[in-house]
Amino acid sequence: MTATLTVSVGAAHGRILSVAGYRPDRIVTNDELCERIDSSDEWIRERSGIIERRYAATDQSVADMAAIAAADALARAGIDPARVGMVLVASVTHPYPTPSAAAEVADRIGAVAAAAMDIAAACAGFCYGIEVANALIRTGSAEFVLVIGVEKLSDWINPDDRGTAFLFADGAGAVVLGPSDQPAIGPVVWGADGSQLDAITMTQSLIEYKNEGGPIFPALEMQGQQVFRWAVGEISKVAQQALDVAGITADDLDAFIPHQANMRITDAIVRALKLPEHVPVARDIAYTGNTSAASIPLAMQAMLDAGEIPHGGTALIIGFGAGLVFAAQVVTLP
Ligand code: UT7
Repeated sequence: MTATLTVSVGAAHGRILSVAGYRPDRIVTNDELCERIDSSDEWIRERSGIIERRYAATDQSVADMAAIAAADALARAGIDPARVGMVLVASVTHPYPTPSAAAEVADRIGAVAAAAMDIAAACAGFCYGIEVANALIRTGSAEFVLVIGVEKLSDWINPDDRGTAFLFADGAGAVVLGPSDQPAIGPVVWGADGSQLDAITMTQSLIEYKNEGGPIFPALEMQGQQVFRWAVGEISKVAQQALDVAGITADDLDAFIPHQANMRITDAIVRALKLPEHVPVARDIAYTGNTSAASIPLAMQAMLDAGEIPHGGTALIIGFGAGLVFAAQVVTLP
């Protein structure tokens, strides 16, 4: 006889309740990086939109930054850490495959009842995490979920590689998701094109870590133009699809918060979407650099805290990167 199982039943909908960010103290200028690469402040600003970026301290880990952002996000949501059912850490720079950064962060913030796991979906990791969190809340597997995007890319870039050294940076952004009566997270549009695995890798060479005697990390290598062309061509379509499946148009948006890959990629997607002038666009890359999985929550937090976009407003978020992976959804802002 087949037994009838009891299954969990969740909330009607999930929503983002709060967002918080952590930016390391150390500001790194273009001029400082140009001591190691054949480039200039002018070229970097023009081709990427980056004016400066932040690097974590040598002894500051991915989990350190994630825990700060996560604790702040919980405080902003007014949620007791013990009520968190899952901690998801999206990162590609936690230095070892196991134990996970998520388990460490859960312990550090007092999420004693939480399951924990990492998500390796590169610059799309935060949007992947939002979809997983939403599903967990709707199926009753968790009431509250922490999604943290965090990177310490300064450990993994080759400071002598002028194709990547100026682009990537460090930081953490975290959101708390919980139950909602109203729809607040649109359907995800996501995927992965493994035929372009070689576009961004961490496997082809090793670099000596700058901290002498410290660990040796594989260097991040990127076919910049290949990624650029893919992002401008394919990701613009994904952005439009996310609006379509949510049943809204670009005119309905209060914010567009794409992964902060390159200011010119953002501009191209804005043009392709025919985004109306009144919709604020995240341009956090100028002072934060490309922080991969952390870039969307960092930009969201900055825009909300500056009063540039309304709490409770409607935002399109989209992440894309190594894999090549992508994910986009329309969300109600916390
Ligand atoms: O985070 C998610 C994944 N990553 C991305 O989305 C990044 C996507 N790619 C990019 O953002 C851009 O490809 C970069 C910003 C990385 C590079 O910009 P680009 O406009 O694609 O540069 P390019 O590689 O096409 O090079 C253009 C020129 C070349 O010179 P010639 O052949 O035209 O004379 C390069 O040698 O610029 C030269 N160049 C540089 N010059 C000064 C390349 N890198 C540099 C540099 N400084 N750092």
